[in-house]
This record gives sequence, structure tokens and C-alpha cells, in this order.
Amino acid sequence: MNQEYENCRQMIEDELSKAFCGDVPQKPLYEAMRYSLLAGGKRIRPVMVLKFAEACGADMEKALPIACAVEMLHTYSLIHDDLPCMDNDDLRRGKPTNHKVFGECTAVLAGDALQAAAFETILLSDLPNDIKAEAAKELAVAAGENGICGGQYLDMDGEKRKLSIQDITNIHTLKTASMIRAAARMGVIAGGGTERQLEAAAKYADAVGIAFQIRDDVLDYTSTTEELGKPVGSDRENEKSTFASIFGTDACEALIHERTEAAKAAARYAFENPEFLVWLADMLAKRKY
Ligand code: IPE
Ligand code: IPE
Ligand code: MG
Ligand code: MG
Ligand code: MG
Repeated sequence: MNQEYENCRQMIEDELSKAFCGDVPQKPLYEAMRYSLLAGGKRIRPVMVLKFAEACGADMEKALPIACAVEMLHTYSLIHDDLPCMDNDDLRRGKPTNHKVFGECTAVLAGDALQAAAFETILLSDLPNDIKAEAAKELAVAAGENGICGGQYLDMDGEKRKLSIQDITNIHTLKTASMIRAAARMGVIAGGGTERQLEAAAKYADAVGIAFQIRDDVLDYTSTTEELGKPVGSDRENEKSTFASIFGTDACEALIHERTEAAKAAARYAFENPEFLVWLADMLAKRKY
């Protein structure tokens, strides 16, 4: 399974590395976009796109433009998340954050352009028009005021206050699970899956998404900057309410386990060959960075 993950990751790296080249006057903006996009990253969202498409019986190649689009959108959200007006972090993917290298103005524009490029990558691909439209719709919903932006707003608004478990779950669902959900569903859309598979993909991703953010919050407490490639203690410094700060890490482990089992059940319910998706949920639950 590790090798399968690595094969997908390599397909994605190869395709992303072709983006934003060219000798144009705004080349420094291209370079800022490539700096964050090609800085590594686990690529879990695009891997999900490819593997959900495959689980529906399609060729992974077909879903590659959608996979790249998701990673572009995710990278934009990280560049903006690190800005001084947001989490004010200096390190990302093991390198200085975008604004540290290129300045705030260029970092904002690199994020903006990556978000637009995500939609462009889907809409200018060779996929059939109905698939392009469905995929772009999923991405738009996950990116906007009821997805990442809504969640990031609530995350910022909740700083220095003690939030309820419902509030925190809602923030995690919007800021993190929504894009993971879009990735899973877009994979099914690209793969020509059924309505039942679309619903199972959403269930899988919602559960994985919550577990993923709880693990992120735990790692912010327990890991090291070297291992994470981003600063630890960022949440404490910004006085964020997280599952880890409110319940402690033991309770978080139980929650991660429970969500991961729910995700695995959803994958087994609707897919003939769910082995990779089951493995992925377990791998993400145990991840160390
Ligand atoms: C970080 O996402 C932001 C969260 C939603 C927790 P990842 O942990 O997927 O970051 P990369 O893409 O591997 O750098
Ligand atoms: C941000 O959550 C999630 C996004 C939508 C970018 P965090 O602020 O916890 O992500 P990290 O820890 O900086 O990667
Ligand atoms: Mg943040
Ligand atoms: Mg952050
Ligand atoms: Mg975090």
C-alpha cells in the first residue's frame, strides 16, 4: 500500500511540476506559486482523488487534473493560513513560509492565483463538460464561505475564547473536512461512480477529515518542528481552542479511533475494492507529521 501511495504521489508531483512555468513579466509571482506548491506536502487530498476514481473502476490518469486542482487550492489555503494576519507562522513544509521569502503582498497574490488556477485546471482539462461542471461545483462549495473560508473565519474569531465541542467540530468540518470531502467526491465524479458511492465518499471523508484535524491539533502539542516541518505550539501561541487543548491528548486518541473506524465502514459499504481507502484512513490516523 505504501508503494501504491508513493506511485500516486509521484504522478501528482510530475504533473504539478509542469505548472506556472514560462518567461513572463510576472515570473516572480509564478515562482512564489511554485515555491509553496512544490515544497513537498503529503498530497493526501490529490491521492484521495485518484484512488476514489480508481475505486469506481476508472483509470487514475483521468482524474489527474482534478487531483492537481485540489492540491493548488489546498496550497493557497496554507499560504494564507500562515500570513501574519492569520496564524503568523514562519515555517511550512520544512521551508520558510511564502510571505517570509516573497513578502506579504506577493504571498497574498500567489494564494489568490493558486485558487483561480485550481478552477482553471479543471475547466480547461480534456474531461467531459458534465464532469468538469460537477467537479468545479464541489470545489467551489468546499472553498467558500461554507467551507475553508467559513471555517478559517470561525477559527480566527474563536481565538482567546473557550469554545464548545460543537463549535470546534463545526470549525474542523468547515476548514478541513470540507476540502477532504470535495477531494473524495470529485474522485467518484471523475470515476463515473454511483450516487451510493458519492454518499459513501462523503461519509468517509467527513470522518477522516475530523480525525485529520484532531491529529493535526495533537501534533501541534506533542511533535517537534523538525518532524512536522511547521512550528509546534502555534495553536497555544494564538490561544486557539482545539480538541487537544480542551480534552487532552488521550481523549483525542479515542476520538480519532472512532472517526477512523466510521470512515473504514463507509469505504467498505460502497466500494468493491476498499483496501487502499481502509489502509489510508488507518495511516492518516497514525501519522506522525
Ligand atoms: C495542513 O494540511 C492543514 C490542515 C488542514 C491540518 P496537511 O497536513 O495535509 O499539509 P501538507 O499538505 O502535508 O503540507
Ligand atoms: C488550517 O488549520 C487549515 C486550513 C484550512 C489551512 P491549521 O492552522 O491548524 O493548519 P496548520 O497546522 O497551520 O497546517
Ligand atoms: Mg490556522
Ligand atoms: Mg496554521
Ligand atoms: Mg494546525
